[in-house]
Amino acid sequence: MKPYYITTAIDYTNAPPHIGHAYEKVLADAMARFQRLNGREVYFLTGVDQHGQKVQKKAAEVGLSSEDFVGSITPHFIALWDKLNVRYDGWAATTDPMHKRVVQTMLQKLHDCGQLYKKAYTGFYSVRQEQFLTDKERGPDGNFGEEWGEVQELEEENWYFRLSDHVEWLKGYIKSHPDFIFPEHRASSVLNALEGTPQDLCISRPIERLSWGIPLPFDERFVNYVWFDALTNYISFAGYLADECGNKGLPDFSTLWPSEAHVIGKDILVPAHAVYWPIMLHALGFSDEQIPRLIVHGWWNVKGAKMSKSLGNVIDPNVLAGTFTPDGLRYYLMRDIATGYDADFSDERIIMSYNKELAGGLGNLLNRSINMAQKYRAGVLTPGSYDDAENATLRQTVTDALPAYIESMSTWGIHDGIAAAWKIVTAANAYVDSTKPFSLAKDPEQAARLDSVLYHLAEAWVHLSVLLNPIMPTAMATARAQIGWELPEGFQLKDLHWGMLKDGHQLGTPVPLFPRLEIAAAE
Ligand code: MSP
Repeated sequence: MKPYYITTAIDYTNAPPHIGHAYEKVLADAMARFQRLNGREVYFLTGVDQHGQKVQKKAAEVGLSSEDFVGSITPHFIALWDKLNVRYDGWAATTDPMHKRVVQTMLQKLHDCGQLYKKAYTGFYSVRQEQFLTDKERGPDGNFGEEWGEVQELEEENWYFRLSDHVEWLKGYIKSHPDFIFPEHRASSVLNALEGTPQDLCISRPIERLSWGIPLPFDERFVNYVWFDALTNYISFAGYLADECGNKGLPDFSTLWPSEAHVIGKDILVPAHAVYWPIMLHALGFSDEQIPRLIVHGWWNVKGAKMSKSLGNVIDPNVLAGTFTPDGLRYYLMRDIATGYDADFSDERIIMSYNKELAGGLGNLLNRSINMAQKYRAGVLTPGSYDDAENATLRQTVTDALPAYIESMSTWGIHDGIAAAWKIVTAANAYVDSTKPFSLAKDPEQAARLDSVLYHLAEAWVHLSVLLNPIMPTAMATARAQIGWELPEGFQLKDLHWGMLKDGHQLGTPVPLFPRLEIAAAE
């Protein structure tokens, strides 16, 4: 079976990254970790989208060359992904010469088979914003607003891609492949966008206007439009045309493609990922079976508003990871959103998710389970032969959690996967309250029952440490160290069964996994 090839939308170099960017990487990372645990080999690609007008402009504003500018920004992304434990296999930086060779070879192929043509375009051009304007940019009075500065009527030659030739194919493809876009309901926005007269896509910018890009190999007076270059990262870094381009050290393309998941935000579905990208692949000769699947997530907003520097409401993941630990942030980002839908960031919720769910629910369960076993049995577990209905119910909850968890996680329902695992937390905490091990310990006649209770609690936690590993890898490894149980090399979910801990198992020392935070939400 091919590895599960997962990519994330590569970020613009508009650092520092905010929690929306962080969410997407953690989502992909959690899925990659889950797939590995579920027995799949995984290849996870992410990176940075470095070319284009915005970058060139920003670099000029701060007095740096575009190259030095992106060089100064990329480390912020890498440092954050490291901090958040986002473990990728490939790094796609679009300034990489290997990528540039693939983009140019691909453009040449499209040119040679008549998919590209040059034509002159006359339109209104904003000198300040360095872009052509359309009627959409006109104000209610029919004029272009002051924000556009001086607007000139300009004629400019450019290269175009025959996108319109493939629109009928794309419509048919979308209708016959309901799996192409997840969640399915998003396909309708793509079909709507394809209504009306199809237009071709301008894929060049004259070098006088934009020098920070990949030159067209057949006309060096132009550079490639940034989306064309950026989308190609999904195949260039997966080894597409590697031999032809002399690219070394990349994966074997035939083993990876098609990607099972391009993880993107809803804003870049139409037209980039759902129109340009499948049509680019189709025009290059990729078959219907080789079109990748799009996983479209929603947005993190703040009090219902879009996060933006101008509104001053950007939430910094570095700060949150510092306060709530990287795993505390990962948990919140995976728990409080349903994949495909929007969520609202809230101080109250992240504090509550940490203090109530992680510290009070999950961490406390581990701490009291190990503590009691240390206190009453010097940390040694002996399951014995005692059994009763309460034990059976807890065992059932633990074993039922696994299939429900797998079902949700494999269909991108990460928050439901967490909820499936959380049934164990809730049941095990209720089990402590009802079995009252501290009372059992006072009665020598209840010794066998106490042994079974202590065993059930530790065993339940072993299961939790596996199921929650894709979400909180560091905390779960710490918990396993406290339990004295390590994930065996090559361990898979199918190996998880009741009885992972053997008779005589020695537990380690309890240390609070998520120490409670004394912190109040900002007004
Ligand atoms: N560079 C392009 C992607 C090129 S892919 C060939 C880009 N970059 S971006 O930095 O603007 O966004 C990167 C990803 O973060 C996108 O998938 C985008 O949807 C996502 N998000 C940006 N803001 C977001 C939120 N507020 N919430 C969730 N995800 C968000 O687009």
